[in-house]
Amino acid sequence: MFSLKILLTGANGQLGCEMVELAKNLNLPLYSFTRSQLNITELDQIQRTVATIKPNYIINTAAYTAVDKAEKESELAFSINCVGVKNLAKVAEEFDIPLLHISTDYVFDGQKKTPYIEEDEAQPLSIYGQSKLSGENLLRESWYKHIILRVSWVFGIFGNNFVKTIIRLAKEQKELKIIADQRGAPTYTGDIAMTLLKIIACLDKGQTQWGTYHYTGMPTLSWYEFAKKIVDELKQHQHLLLREIIPILTLEYPCIARRPYNSELDCQKILQTFNIRPTHWFSGLKKMVYSL
Ligand SMILES: NC(=O)c1ccc[n+]([C@@H]2O[C@H](COP(=O)([O-])OP(=O)(O)OC[C@H]3O[C@@H](n4cnc5c(N)ncnc54)[C@H](OP(=O)(O)O)[C@@H]3O)[C@@H](O)[C@H]2O)c1
Repeated sequence: MFSLKILLTGANGQLGCEMVELAKNLNLPLYSFTRSQLNITELDQIQRTVATIKPNYIINTAAYTAVDKAEKESELAFSINCVGVKNLAKVAEEFDIPLLHISTDYVFDGQKKTPYIEEDEAQPLSIYGQSKLSGENLLRESWYKHIILRVSWVFGIFGNNFVKTIIRLAKEQKELKIIADQRGAPTYTGDIAMTLLKIIACLDKGQTQWGTYHYTGMPTLSWYEFAKKIVDELKQHQHLLLREIIPILTLEYPCIARRPYNSELDCQKILQTFNIRPTHWFSGLKKMVYSL
């Protein structure tokens, strides 16, 4: 498998950087591109790059991910998360290359009382969620050789995320108020990167079960409970100013964009199809706390 050429977009992002790191460690031929090297909203740039590299697979981690800002920058969000994905799908089809694309739990409205399965109706609450859902739909319509991997609550060593914010605040503040009525599953970038490689290995063996899959860490919990776990782990290594974490309701912390109350994604399909199990996010959290 590992003579396969993989082209990666969004190489400066949380997940993109993790893919680059993993490829380095495993000595994989990953051709990675940052936004300035390959802008997915520019069709001709993608065509030229793909024609030169002739990859066996394309992984798209590039995205507009600023959930609140998207409410004011909807044109930009749609241009990257929709037009960009359509461009990639068009070129992937032209060169007959499977496209692995990352999407989000924010395509759902969070009203369901049980975990969302892939076939559940998506009804995003935010512009970001709408732009990601439109990107998914354009990909489905444009190129059948695709995998859409929906992940949730992404955190890792690179870029900004909830874990890094809590680590910083725990050193600066005595008290934190964290939302306790939104539930989801934190997902470590290292685990998503491994999952993408496992899927490629399966596809390459002829197990071409194209479509949409959910993959998250486990178990599910609230942002408040996650913050407590982060702080408990951090306390063992560092002196913190933080004395108390107070649970609050979403209503007490108004954000510009609405977010789902229930973000839990059912991961049975990826298990049954590719034998990929959710990983406990705690091991990723431990690695992060050690490395920062
Ligand atoms: N973060 C989460 O909690 C979360 C949750 C669920 C799903 N996801 C999905 O997971 C995927 C990876 O997210 P992430 O957290 O790694 O995002 P990220 O850290 O924001 O990285 C996204 C990358 O895409 C790049 N990019 C933006 N516009 C581009 C364009 N036009 N052409 C090429 N590259 C462009 C950005 O470039 P710059 O570095 O120049 O800005 C950035 O490096 C995304 O599809 C996201 O929707 C994320």
